[in-house]
Amino acid sequence: MADLERCDIKIAGGVVIDGTGAARVRADVAITDDRITAVGDLARVDAGRTIDAADRIVAPGFVDVHTHDDRALLSKPTMDMKVSQGVTSVVVGNCGISLAPLIMQHRPPPLDLLGTEEWWRFGTFEAFLSAVDDAPASLNAAFLVGHSTLRVGAMGDVYRPADAGEIKAMRGTLEASLDSGAVGLSTGLFYAPASQAPTEEVIEIARGLKAHGGLYVTHMRDEADAVLDSLEETFLIGREAGVPVVVSHHKVTGKKNFGRSKETLALFERYRTSQKIGLDVYPYHASSTVLKADSIAVSNRVLVTWSVPHPEHKGRDLADIAAEWGIDPYAAAERLQPAGAIYFSMDEADVRRILSYPEAMFGSDGLPHDEFPHPRLWGTFPRILGHYARDVGLFPLEEAVRRMTSISAKQFGLVDRGVIAPGTFADLCVFDPDTIIDSASFDDPMTPAAGIEHVLVNGREVWNQAGSTGERPGRALRHGG
Ligand code: ZN
Ligand code: CU
Repeated sequence: MADLERCDIKIAGGVVIDGTGAARVRADVAITDDRITAVGDLARVDAGRTIDAADRIVAPGFVDVHTHDDRALLSKPTMDMKVSQGVTSVVVGNCGISLAPLIMQHRPPPLDLLGTEEWWRFGTFEAFLSAVDDAPASLNAAFLVGHSTLRVGAMGDVYRPADAGEIKAMRGTLEASLDSGAVGLSTGLFYAPASQAPTEEVIEIARGLKAHGGLYVTHMRDEADAVLDSLEETFLIGREAGVPVVVSHHKVTGKKNFGRSKETLALFERYRTSQKIGLDVYPYHASSTVLKADSIAVSNRVLVTWSVPHPEHKGRDLADIAAEWGIDPYAAAERLQPAGAIYFSMDEADVRRILSYPEAMFGSDGLPHDEFPHPRLWGTFPRILGHYARDVGLFPLEEAVRRMTSISAKQFGLVDRGVIAPGTFADLCVFDPDTIIDSASFDDPMTPAAGIEHVLVNGREVWNQAGSTGERPGRALRHGG
């Protein structure tokens, strides 16, 4: 460091948690252009700007590995709901639904979670990535190709298994998308547009991943009674295709399954010795997606997040709406369609057990276009750091940071991100460990978190205590680059 005389920005006097899990150390961080150039005692280094980080934690920017931000990158490019949490990279295209490659006239649920017809205008992955390059967001994004998106494009009527020709076409489109820079394939076998796909269909398409170094990410067929069968299916797909798998938003739902995360995590441990397996989790005991009868059936309470014919009922209990209408909740759900909901369907002990599992990455699964969204959209990362690490004591802060930075960047191939070290990209979050906490709640879901003081993406500040800076230095992260 003796040779470094100047930098663009110096983050001075902070305590660095570098993302690897190593214990925190007192150190300054120097940044020039888009990279970290030095870490240590930099008192003698001149800086164009100095950020005072005394008593603050300086961490790598967080990677939100599970998002549905495909369209938000273009329609809400400052991405306040994410950078306000310290998130500097997102993985989009989860749960089988990616905005590209598909030009679509109608939108079968859950594809409608991503937007109305006019947003489905990218017939190739290349076209989508160039649109993101041309109008960058405040943060970086890596991209998955959605199996349900491929099905709608290749099959027309998706409520059936694909035939051999359609499978070949989907695999071809997947491979072209991987050539353009997508990092992998996602499925949402839980949802109607993909639930008719037999395991063999997914395997045949996923075989296109290996040569491109891609991975397989899945919202599994079942997270309730048949959750173990779904894990077996996921691991089989990974083995047959010869690729790493990631189980999305891992959970067990339904009262009679409470406690079964012991069984699911034991299965992860058993297979992990012979194949590459990852998972992500969000820190809440309620889930959220489109309004669906089978999700209502496993829930204690259902909150409506949006409804096209009845927008006035957003934020209300489905049971109250049904009582007012004098019908049962299933009939009320029909009347609200198309619609979205929050489902209180998990056990807090399972959530904590999965959060504590050392292989689990963190992802929000936030739904940026819901009118009354699940609070995970604005709260996930500060909730883990403030509530679960500091207040509940589930794990040390260093471990919490590791599982939202280095392991996530490694899993999704984000090169030179997720750790603080000379030479890596200057994606950084400066926060106050005593005050950091989520502020978004189920009653008031769109409130920025407390305690996040500075967020930098590629060396430029995108968020500080005054809010968004309006800067948009984010990049479309192509596989391998
Ligand atoms: Zn999902
Ligand atoms: Cu999702």
